[in-house]
Amino acid sequence: MPGFEIFSDEERKQVNDVLETGVLFRYGFDQARNGQWKAKTFEKEFAERIGVKYCHLCSSGTAALTIALAACGIGADDEVIVPPFTFIATVEALLNAGAVPVFSEIDETLCLDPYALENVITPRTRAVLPVHMCGSMAKIESIKAFCDNKGLVLMEDACQSVGASYKGKALGTFGKMGCFSFDPVKTITCGEGGAVITDIENLYRIAEAFSDHGHDHIGDDRGMEGHPIIGANYRISELNAAVGVAQLRKLDSILKKQRAHKQALKEALSCCTKISFREIPDPEGDSATFLSFFLPDEHLARKAAGLLAKEGVDGCFYWYDNNWHYIRQWDHLKNLSFAAKPPIMLSDNCPDYSKVSLPRSDDIMGRNISMLIKLSWREQEIDLRGQKMVRVLNSL
Ligand SMILES: Cc1ncc(COP(=O)(O)O)c(C=O)c1O
Repeated sequence: MPGFEIFSDEERKQVNDVLETGVLFRYGFDQARNGQWKAKTFEKEFAERIGVKYCHLCSSGTAALTIALAACGIGADDEVIVPPFTFIATVEALLNAGAVPVFSEIDETLCLDPYALENVITPRTRAVLPVHMCGSMAKIESIKAFCDNKGLVLMEDACQSVGASYKGKALGTFGKMGCFSFDPVKTITCGEGGAVITDIENLYRIAEAFSDHGHDHIGDDRGMEGHPIIGANYRISELNAAVGVAQLRKLDSILKKQRAHKQALKEALSCCTKISFREIPDPEGDSATFLSFFLPDEHLARKAAGLLAKEGVDGCFYWYDNNWHYIRQWDHLKNLSFAAKPPIMLSDNCPDYSKVSLPRSDDIMGRNISMLIKLSWREQEIDLRGQKMVRVLNSL
């Protein structure tokens, strides 16, 4: 995901503004900073862009998840339903909060299947944490209806889907809190960064205090601030926030280009009868960072991924064999390999993750290939890529 493909004078100017003041800290130093508040500027503009009341910018998407869990009051022994196709960060945030990740099946949206949630709910379930993977969305309305009906907290991991929406409403705004990542390979980047968003003032207040050692940020003397809670340090620096401000202002042009590139490739592949495309509940809201498609079976998908790589069609991920995004390859989770004893090991509710069975997700991921969409492609490159892909996929 491509924010870094388009660094230019805008990013340099924003970073220089900060360097000229010498104030890299996001709070205080009111006089020295000469009116430059990059983190605050990002928060204001992002909240407006997403259509939400509050945004708190923090040090990473993983931090955003950790902060949101704390703000929503999810901690020791609380079960949280998550998809098995995500980045391990979603699971790590839960484990580090002392919560218990419970995996539920995905559907052909590549996200949590709302109709499978009933199978894993228990009296300990506190929340559902859908992940809007690869730029597109879960069936979020149905997931929200399930949560409302069962009295569960809905929190969204939209780290891979900034700028995407469902029926005109931004992903991340359906639950109590939404989380975003602006790491170096996201649609827009701060270098490292993340954000939590919410419409609920109290959650926002807890989030911003938790991410800065519990400081309440009231008054102008940091040493005299109150500390309503114990927190941690998940602060963003002004330098990272400055890069983010420039990138955020390019978000709409990035989305426009991505969507055009994806559409051109989708049209090129329309003659490939062996593939079907990922289900997208609202195609207009797709942020188009990936083109994901299915082969008829695991054997053909693995073969197609190999042939595409051999033909020089880069960026085609076969997640089923890849260590990154699917539970099948997460031996560290299955073996509970931690640096030090985690809270979950003290729980009498500690699942055996090596025995998690998700046949439907295995089938879907076994047949899936996701190709990333680049901003820097030229028309000719897109044509050539399409031709190569058609050749490979029609030869299977
Ligand atoms: C779905 C998902 N959640 C969370 C994260 C964590 O974000 P970060 O790398 O900013 O910590 C990522 C990053 O890749 C992600 O893809």
